[in-house]
Amino acid sequence: MTAFGSPRRHFRVVDSTNERARELALEGAPSGTVVTAEEQTSGRGRKGRTWVAPPGTALLYSAIQRPLGLEHGLLPLAVPLAVCEAVESMASLECRVKWPNDVWIEERKAAGVLVEARSPEWAVIGIGLNLSIEPAEFPSNLRWPATSVGQGITASAALRAVNERLGHWVDQSPGRVLEEFATRDALRGREIRWEDAGSRSPSGSGRAEGIDDRGNLVVATDDGKRLSLGAGEVQLAL
Ligand code: BTN
Repeated sequence: MTAFGSPRRHFRVVDSTNERARELALEGAPSGTVVTAEEQTSGRGRKGRTWVAPPGTALLYSAIQRPLGLEHGLLPLAVPLAVCEAVESMASLECRVKWPNDVWIEERKAAGVLVEARSPEWAVIGIGLNLSIEPAEFPSNLRWPATSVGQGITASAALRAVNERLGHWVDQSPGRVLEEFATRDALRGREIRWEDAGSRSPSGSGRAEGIDDRGNLVVATDDGKRLSLGAGEVQLAL
C-alpha cells in the first residue's frame, strides 16, 4: 500500500499545491509526497477553472503517486472514493460521487479532484475539500451549489483521513474501483445533459446508466442510442 503524507510540505500561502507538487515530482520527489496549504492564490480546477477557498477553511492537498501503471487507469475515479471514506470516517455524513470525481454531500459539491499526470512517471493527485466555508463565502458564479463538511472537522484531521484512505484506494484494481463507484454514483438513473463532450456527440441529454470499464459515463439518449462520454461537463437536467 502506498503511504501518503511523508514527506510533506506545508505552505501558509502558495499559488497552487498541484503546481508545487508537480515541481517536486519533476525533481524526483518520492511517491507519497504531499503538499498542503492554508491558502492558494491560483488554485486550479478541472477544465481550466479556478478553485477558490477562503484561508484556513479547506483541505488543499496534492499528493504524488509514482510510477503509474495499468493498474492506475481509473485513478481519477478512485480518488473521490477515498475522499468519501475520509469524510465519512470523521463526520456523520454520506457522500456520493458525481462522475467523474466531484464529491457530493446532499447533492452539493463538497470536494473536487484534479489529477495531473505525466504517464508513466507520476501523477499529482489534487484534492480541494471544503471544511468550514460559509454558504455566503462561496463564489456566486458556481455551476453547481457547494457545501462544506462542517461538524468542526479540522484540516489536520482531514489530512490524516485523506492520507489513509488515499493509500488504500490508489492501489485498488480497476474492477474494485468500478464496483465501489457504482454504490456511490450520484448520477445513475438520472436525467442529465452534457456539453463539450468531443466530436461524436458534443452536447445532448439522456439518462445516466453507470460507468463502463474504461471509466466513461454511459448514457441512454432520448432518441434511443447508448453513448459513452469520456470527457465533457455533465449536469443534472433540472
Ligand atoms: C475541480 O475543478 O473540481 C477540481 C478542483 C481541485 C482543487 C484542488 S485544491 C488543491 C489542489 N491544488 C490545486 O491547484 N487544485 C487542487
